[in-house]
Amino acid sequence: MTIIANLLKRKNPDDALANAAKGGLEKTLGVWDLIILGVGAIIGSGIFAVVGIAAAGSADGTSPGAGPALIVSMIVAAIACIFSAMCYSEFASMIPVAGGAYTYTFATLGEFAAWIVGWILMLEYIIAYIAVSCAWANYVIQFLKGFGHILPEWIVNPPVWLVSDYRSAVHSLSSQGIDPHSVIPSVFGIPVSVNLPAALIILFITGILIKGTKDSTKMAAFMVALKLGIIGLFVVTGLFFIEPANWTPFAPNGMSGIFMGAFIIFFAYIGFDALATTAEECKNPQRDLPRGIIGSLIVTTIVYTLVALVLTGIYPTQGHVDMGFLTAPVAFSISNVLSGFWAKAVPGFISVGVIAGLTSVLLVMHLAGTRILYAMSRDNFLPKIFQKLHPKFSTPHILTWAVGIVSIFGTLTLNLDAAAALCNFGTFTSFIIVCVAVIILRKIDPDRPRPFKVPFCPYFPLAGIFCCGGLMIFSMVTATGESSKLSTELFIAWIFMGIIIYATYGYRKNREAELDENKEIAEKDEQTAINI
Ligand code: ALA
Repeated sequence: MTIIANLLKRKNPDDALANAAKGGLEKTLGVWDLIILGVGAIIGSGIFAVVGIAAAGSADGTSPGAGPALIVSMIVAAIACIFSAMCYSEFASMIPVAGGAYTYTFATLGEFAAWIVGWILMLEYIIAYIAVSCAWANYVIQFLKGFGHILPEWIVNPPVWLVSDYRSAVHSLSSQGIDPHSVIPSVFGIPVSVNLPAALIILFITGILIKGTKDSTKMAAFMVALKLGIIGLFVVTGLFFIEPANWTPFAPNGMSGIFMGAFIIFFAYIGFDALATTAEECKNPQRDLPRGIIGSLIVTTIVYTLVALVLTGIYPTQGHVDMGFLTAPVAFSISNVLSGFWAKAVPGFISVGVIAGLTSVLLVMHLAGTRILYAMSRDNFLPKIFQKLHPKFSTPHILTWAVGIVSIFGTLTLNLDAAAALCNFGTFTSFIIVCVAVIILRKIDPDRPRPFKVPFCPYFPLAGIFCCGGLMIFSMVTATGESSKLSTELFIAWIFMGIIIYATYGYRKNREAELDENKEIAEKDEQTAINI
């Protein structure tokens, strides 16, 4: 009985608010800053890389593509997000403290659920980080190919074992009829294949974050303007080359292609939830956070539907699809329709903008992953060593290194599509828990002021649970590819690992902390009694 009571122990939202008030973070963010930050965090490898697989299907043919119906997949994924975004908004306006879904769960479902959500958020941010670094590497490789005449051959056409994980290297070599073992080197009998560009960008970002990043909205605004400018260039140029014939048949793989496309492209919307972690830096979080979260989602949906129309209009997504379309679809498809000087110049511009844009997503993901872990370590779920700050830069350097190193190991085993699918599982689960938490808190704490309320509660939160759960189960049941199976298995393994770590560490540490707290209170009471 005591164990169950401990597992369900909730954190009082008023304590969280009082702690946040003591935090003293400078409140500088208004609604436009939030929309800029949101769009900066959301638009990344989803639309610049993963969209190729959502449209044309995976290279091994095991996951069907949506074809021109990609636009419908985009809208289905946006609908799944909008219900969850409203639930996030209700919480963010009601309990405006850093920690996002992790804090909301602690306030509603208790200690164990909070640990699981934190553990899943860790997966979401770290795996998104791995996925975006793989996309970054693909775009850099594509970009360098444009300089074939001046750069050495090993940079323009690097060996496959230096630019991809082992499984992707084996797949790529085998599909060309080459024996992988004759190409991939071994160290002490272990074949070595590393995604070197992805590992290097992770090291670079780790270094920047340890030195400390000022959350400058000016820098974010520049990145967002660059990203939107590049997308604008793609859409406007592409409009002149649309072949309506490419839009038929509209849905070559029927509903299963559309829903699989929606599951895959969901990755492109991830990031608006990270806005909730800026609550303590907002001038008027109660009013602005809901507007920022929902506003950035609306801007992103409009941008994505335009890209979907042009992408499927200028490149036929059925039949044989070039690998370049699957790895860097935006730059590849536009270079395919242009000729002469423009065929090199426009994709070149696009690649530079994409590389810069992905770098900003990487910064946000590494930072968000570190923040969540820091909050969990403060709540006794992880060792105190993670709270250590750098003596000179005052940043949580051990934690920042830990996230960087784990992510580099991740790039050894995961490629972009496996990482994106795994990240989707984590995010769907955290969205579902936030929807459930809204319904529960309306019942157990109905009088708490809610500056933003999800309309038609509990129907809208239930719709969020249904859409997110439905897409997740659909992908688990239908995807037969090696990457999809791997991500499903890894997700289940991750949850089990989380339960074991909590049972052997977090649970015990929290009880010890409670004993210390009670002892402190008893000592204080004793002292007061003596003084009286
Ligand atoms: N939404 C982010 C991206 O597409 C994770 O890169």
